[in-house]
Amino acid sequence: WNRRRLSVWRYRELLPVRGEPVSLQEGGTPLYHLKNIGKELGIPELYAKHEGMNPTGSFKDRGMTVGVSMARELGMTSVACASTGNTSASLAAYAAKASIPCIVLLPAGKVAIGKVAQALMHGARVISIRGNFDKALEMVHELCISQGLYLLNSVNPYRLEGQKTIGFEAIDQLGGEVPDRMVLPVGNAGNISAVYKGLRELEALGFIDRLPMMTGIQAAGSQPVVKAIEQNLDVLVPESAPETVATAIRIGAPVNAEKALVAIRATGGTAASVTDEEILAMQRDLARKEGIGVEPASAASVAGIRKLAELGLIDRDERIVCVVTGHLLKDPETVVRQCEPPIEIDADLHSLLSASR
Ligand code: F0G
Repeated sequence: WNRRRLSVWRYRELLPVRGEPVSLQEGGTPLYHLKNIGKELGIPELYAKHEGMNPTGSFKDRGMTVGVSMARELGMTSVACASTGNTSASLAAYAAKASIPCIVLLPAGKVAIGKVAQALMHGARVISIRGNFDKALEMVHELCISQGLYLLNSVNPYRLEGQKTIGFEAIDQLGGEVPDRMVLPVGNAGNISAVYKGLRELEALGFIDRLPMMTGIQAAGSQPVVKAIEQNLDVLVPESAPETVATAIRIGAPVNAEKALVAIRATGGTAASVTDEEILAMQRDLARKEGIGVEPASAASVAGIRKLAELGLIDRDERIVCVVTGHLLKDPETVVRQCEPPIEIDADLHSLLSASR
């Protein structure tokens, strides 16, 4: 068991696939110790699990390797999803690997360019809806029911089975120690629910004897789960016009919300929101102080910890694993908007010397 390389398929006894999986070698992502940011925050044991290091640059690949493998085992002839971008990029790649046709629905104008590029290049039929993600998900659901397509959003339980391996790996990488807290950005609330389910299984099997406090972070302009936690609601009130620079988590009616609320409450965790400014500041800090490049939604998890620490709502001695969910290169336009452009000069040494000072 322990000699097997880190990978989603290291844990295959706990996954539903029986035959040869449709795999692009997903999982086995780095767990980085955030020494510099941790020092600033006074949290010595702060870690980031960089899910942007998966084959298509997000954690969705863990779900899709299982989801598309199951689609094939079940004899499905075409697959579909709605997406804020990463799910579509991942499904397009795994469908290509499995030679299954794929349709993806995107909210028009609200998907980062790198993600659209991936879905197009991997050969999906890409359809932009003049509406938000929540509407696109509703529509693809109807399309799947009427046309017999296999739906691979996080309403699909097999996808979440793959994503639960994030928690398994983090514990393996900490030498078998359970972190005190796991922090995830929350959009459709599938990932936090998946990680919680996996950890409950490890507990039931006797591999671990406690669970981390599951902590969900949302953008201030799109925070129905945070409001449900704060107001102690069991059913969440959807937001009709979610808005945030972190387009990956621009979701007003998360389909897995009830499961996420259970995960957070049952583990003594919490939920918090961060503003777009706080998200972008943490994206820069991760890049410049730790060398870790992530997209805005991913920076939300670490920005959330900064906020909770500043508010005195967490213990600084906790061992904390923040899941950073997608790669910097997913959304180059947001980067270019924030950074100074390159300095263009004439091709002579004099100009170079003055520009480099
Ligand atoms: N981070 C990134 C980079 C994401 O792409 C997503 C979700 C999340 C966090 C939130 O995860 O939905 O399980 O709570 N992206 C989906 C998509 C919605 O279509 O790519 P969640």
